[in-house]
Amino acid sequence: MAFPENFINELTERNDIVEVVSSYVRLSKKSGSNLFGLCPFHSEKTPSFSVSPDKQIYHCFGCGKGGGVINFVMEIENLSFPEAVEFLAKRAGMPMPEETNDRESRRRARMLELNKAAARFFYEQLSTPAGQAACDYMRKRKLSPATARNFGIGFAPDTWDSLTEAMKSQGFTEQELAEAGLVRRGKSGGVYDTFRNRLMFPVIDVRGNVIGFSGRILGDGEPKYMNSPETLVFNKSRNLFALNLAKKSKCGYIILSEGNIDVASLHQAGFDSAVASLGTSLTPEQARLISRYTDQVVIAYDNDGAGIKAAQRAIGILEKLDLKVKVLRLEGAKDPDEFIKLKGPEAFRKLLEGSEDQIDYRLRAVTEKYDLSSDGDKVAFLKEATELVARLPGAVERQVYAMRVASMAGVPESVVADEAQRRRKRLLSSARKAQEREQTRVDRAPPGGGRTGRYSDPASAAAEEGVIRLLYLEPSLIDEPGLPDTEDFSQESLGRIYSAIRDRLRRGESVNTATLGEELSGEDMSLLVSLLQKPELLSRSRQSLHDYINKIKERREESSQSSDLRALANKYREKKGYEG
Ligand code: CTP
Ligand code: MN
Repeated sequence: MAFPENFINELTERNDIVEVVSSYVRLSKKSGSNLFGLCPFHSEKTPSFSVSPDKQIYHCFGCGKGGGVINFVMEIENLSFPEAVEFLAKRAGMPMPEETNDRESRRRARMLELNKAAARFFYEQLSTPAGQAACDYMRKRKLSPATARNFGIGFAPDTWDSLTEAMKSQGFTEQELAEAGLVRRGKSGGVYDTFRNRLMFPVIDVRGNVIGFSGRILGDGEPKYMNSPETLVFNKSRNLFALNLAKKSKCGYIILSEGNIDVASLHQAGFDSAVASLGTSLTPEQARLISRYTDQVVIAYDNDGAGIKAAQRAIGILEKLDLKVKVLRLEGAKDPDEFIKLKGPEAFRKLLEGSEDQIDYRLRAVTEKYDLSSDGDKVAFLKEATELVARLPGAVERQVYAMRVASMAGVPESVVADEAQRRRKRLLSSARKAQEREQTRVDRAPPGGGRTGRYSDPASAAAEEGVIRLLYLEPSLIDEPGLPDTEDFSQESLGRIYSAIRDRLRRGESVNTATLGEELSGEDMSLLVSLLQKPELLSRSRQSLHDYINKIKERREESSQSSDLRALANKYREKKGYEG
């Protein structure tokens, strides 16, 4: 998939990055020619998110994210590259180029059509004799026909080709079915249905498109769920089951659970803001998606070890986005579905209202790890619980929880309170130091926006950055003799960026964040933008380029020599029988 270069260039010219960013972020506080604002991608109180009108790029000195206007839209609207292009084309009133209309978006549209037809097929199976098994199972699980309709739940028959044949008769090809993940290819080259004898949940995105399927086995067995593979339109980590319904809820929070049955059962009981991730633990992309619709999340995961672990991970991810998080304690039931079946919707509502906030939850999680009747465990418990108390922002809160921890461990309250106080001081002072470091980093903007610390060979990496910067800013340098090979780069990420730029230039194509955005990952793009922040004297660019190249080659020789030496030393040591 490629958009014509001049289309992409016109697109970026007609979507000024300052204007686009301004519709999401309040930009102000001029510093040089840059505008600053609060970063939309991580939570912060002082602005470290910068936009350069000259270079048409954004860069956050805090979280390191950066790129051009297309990357910004991808990141903030949670879109793929082609979707972001389409978004910006619409914004600027530009028609999409013929070629992409013909190919990429036609293929997408066709796949969505196929998915919709397949969903209809699965749904219709419920009223056939073959579908009775699924109806029986839903009855057993107390899922009503109205719920089946609401979610579009259906049934994939227990045959090898029911769907294939039905879709072929509607004009879809085996190739199209395979690309949509609805069939698999057998050894002989023929195809067979991916989903067989399963209760089918269509996954519908917030725009109402059927983008994929989750198939649950009828009853027990492994694997319990099968999900569509990644396709042109389906990405598990960027979507949530039932968000299409939950986004319309008036309740003000999203309920996050694990299984599709739990979600269906919750909606049926009137909790219409339940969603589930699609067989992965909650991802940052999913959290961001949630944060578009609400600022509060209630976690209702299964009441087992895996559920507790998953909840703790999810809390971390959600809190990074400043979402308020509560965790439900489903006492006496294995999951929300069972809880509602056993105790009724009213009990669940009470649970929601009284759900513990994440401090109680974390404290309880710590408690459950230890056996408080054993002295050894008690010490470990105190250590961990006191750390938790020390991190609480409010003094009253700290007091209350210190009291609780002390009484749990059977020690005087002052023991916990004093220790928490000491730890808090230490925490604060290291936070202050980190902040000071951050500040100097922003002020000085060292190479790579402060990322050099992560390079294995900083001296070589600085030169590698230099080569990239020069080629980016002065493409004519591509004709200079002696340009390094990708293998000469000490840092893989820089090597990737370098070869992307070099290859484009050698093909006579233009190089900018928009054209590179198609092949570089978001992370590499962020790195590129951050290293472009460093000044480069273009008046002596040829000389600088060769200086950088020499440095890289020199470092490479040194490192190969020193690894030779290391190898020699190791050999010697082995001979002598020394230990590591
Ligand atoms: N899962 C999955 N794909 C989905 C949904 C869930 O792989 N589309 C996985 C989850 O990662 C989790 C498990 O299946 O590990 C969720 O199971 P559970 O909550 O037990 O599913 P339910 O449908 O609610 O089934 P049950 O009736 O047994 O509770
Ligand atoms: Mn469940």
